[in-house]
Amino acid sequence: MAILKVARLGHPVLRQKAANVDPKEIGTPEFQRFLDDMVDTMREYDGVGLAAPQVHASKQIFVCEVEKNPRYPEAPSVPLTCVINPVLKDLSDKKVPMWEGCLSIPDMRGVVPRHESLICEGLDRKGKPLTLEVSGFFARVIQHEWDHLQGHVYPDRMKDLRTLTFLQEFGRYWVDDEED
Ligand code: NI
Repeated sequence: MAILKVARLGHPVLRQKAANVDPKEIGTPEFQRFLDDMVDTMREYDGVGLAAPQVHASKQIFVCEVEKNPRYPEAPSVPLTCVINPVLKDLSDKKVPMWEGCLSIPDMRGVVPRHESLICEGLDRKGKPLTLEVSGFFARVIQHEWDHLQGHVYPDRMKDLRTLTFLQEFGRYWVDDEED
């Protein structure tokens, strides 16, 4: 197991379009170890998703998982999912605004409109075809990670940069925290 270094906003790798993975590569021990490392890295930093460019590998791969996440305590569970060479289709016309963060933009949040539902096709970690029909938070995570593979980060998608907020101020001014 290895925790990989996460690229932060400003690193050029986050702005490149990631290359497709050759399906022949998927079964190799090196590739499988890289996927395991991506999962470990996502969990280490309490991410709900991680795209390969965020760990300096410009490849069309992302992982996601939500299980009682301290960064998103209200978020519904998302099973551990790995998608290689993802393609998004049937994106709903309806968009929903919600707060979003990113491990490459630490300690910040912003309100991002995202399609409410979509279909994501690609390959799973065994190289088998995968189709995910998702909505709500899962659809949001997939759009966020897919964006990373195109060289986009969430502030590019914000309609109003005035909601861009440091986490500390987010807790102070933007959420009602009944536990404090
Ligand atoms: Ni991100």
